[in-house]
Parts: sequence; C-alpha cells; structure tokens
Amino acid sequence: MNVTEAVKTRISVRAFLDAPVPEAEIRAILDIARWAPSGGNLQPWRVHVVTGAARDRLVETVKQAIAANPLGDEAELAIYPPGLAEPWRSRRFELGEQMYARLGIPREDKGARLTWLLNNYAFFGAPAGLFFSLDRRFDKGQWAHLGMFMQTIALVAAEKGLATCMQEAWAARARTVSAFLGLDEGEQLYCGMALGHADPDAPVNALRSARASVEEFATFIAE
Ligand SMILES: Cc1cc2nc3c(=O)[nH]c(=O)nc-3n(C[C@H](O)[C@H](O)[C@H](O)COP(=O)(O)O)c2cc1C
Repeated sequence: MNVTEAVKTRISVRAFLDAPVPEAEIRAILDIARWAPSGGNLQPWRVHVVTGAARDRLVETVKQAIAANPLGDEAELAIYPPGLAEPWRSRRFELGEQMYARLGIPREDKGARLTWLLNNYAFFGAPAGLFFSLDRRFDKGQWAHLGMFMQTIALVAAEKGLATCMQEAWAARARTVSAFLGLDEGEQLYCGMALGHADPDAPVNALRSARASVEEFATFIAE
C-alpha cells in the first residue's frame, strides 16, 4: 500500500471485530509513527495503550462513571468552539445525519442516538485503545505536532490492515481516564483512538464522509 492509498482508505471505523491486536503489533506501529515530524523535534506526544484486561477494566470503570455522572466531566478542552459557524456547522451536521442514516436511527430518536454515542466509551468494540496526552506546559504548536503523530499512527495501521477511530469523545471522561492511566496533574489528556480489525459487515463502516474540494480551502498565489 502506498501513501496515497493509505490516506484514501483510512476511515473512522466505528464497529470492530472481536479479534485481538498483539501488543507487539502496536509497538511496531508506534515504532514507525515516532518518525512523525514535530517543530524543533520536540516529539511532545505521549501515548498510553490499553489492551486485554486493562482495556476491559477501563471500559467498565467509565461505564460506572457515566452511570454516576451522565453529563460527563467538566470539559477542559472544548471539542468544538461554542456557536460553531458555517461552513463547519453544516459539515458536522451532515456527518451526523449520514452516520445515523447508516445506523437506521431517525433524527427524532434522541435516546437511540445517545445510546449509540456511548459506544465510543467501549472503543466501538476494538480490542485496543490508545490515549494521547501532552504536558500542560505546551502551547498550540505542540497540539498540532501531536495531531501529526496521531495521523501517522492511523496511516501505518491502515497499511497493516488495521482500522482506527480517533475519539475526542473521551475528553468528556478525561478525569476518569486520567486517573485510570495514572497521569499526573501536569499531563493533559487529549484524545483516544480505537484500534483493531474493522467489522466489514457493519453498516456504519460503509460511511464515507465528504470533503471540501481543493478550491474551497486552498489559495494559490503565484505573482
Ligand atoms: C481528533 C479527532 C477526534 C475525533 N473524535 C471522534 C469521536 O469521538 N467519535 C467518533 O465517532 N469519531 C471521531 N472522529 C472521527 C471524525 O468524525 C472523522 O475523522 C471525520 O468525520 C472524517 O471521517 P473519516 O475519518 O472517516 O475520514 C474524530 C476525528 C478526529 C480527527
């Protein structure tokens, strides 16, 4: 698989098979992804990998936290800015509508939509979960570097026939997850990532999200 193929075949998978990914394979992916670039070569990222019994324990712990506090932890990081403007608002809306259409959940069934979203907190059934954190002393630049690292992981996973879903949903449970991972106060949890084998028969995995054309986001200045 070449880079173009990896970029184009990587999608967010939201239903995984119950098939393990050996720790050695995850290490091998990280061993490649560590070559991602970062300003000043800071390599600011930290990644915390949960598999096996630890993964199951985390899912159970978060399930209990959700039951005790359905609204979630006070968000340290807003996933979207308040009052999301156009065209971003519509893109988000469209993605949601396409996803729920695949799942056969109508708009008015808010309960079913919410229940579906809770699958985030079980990694959509994936056997491995990755969590990304940063030292709180870092600034915006380092957040971008972390993003490069995450995308590199997703592309390498795609090359190896594995599937991923980045999951900022975990930010709503940052306190519980940080405690579980043993992160100290100086470390800020950003995002999770489900990693495993895609379920090819799951309708939600047939979703192909749209993209704006180059003309919509690029400016070329030649003279
Ligand atoms: C940083 C980041 C966080 C995301 N968080 C979630 C999430 O919590 N749950 C989810 O289902 N998808 C999540 N996504 C997936 C996006 O919805 C998805 O990347 C986008 O719709 C484009 O679709 P694609 O990844 O299939 O190409 C996240 C993606 C990124 C990059």
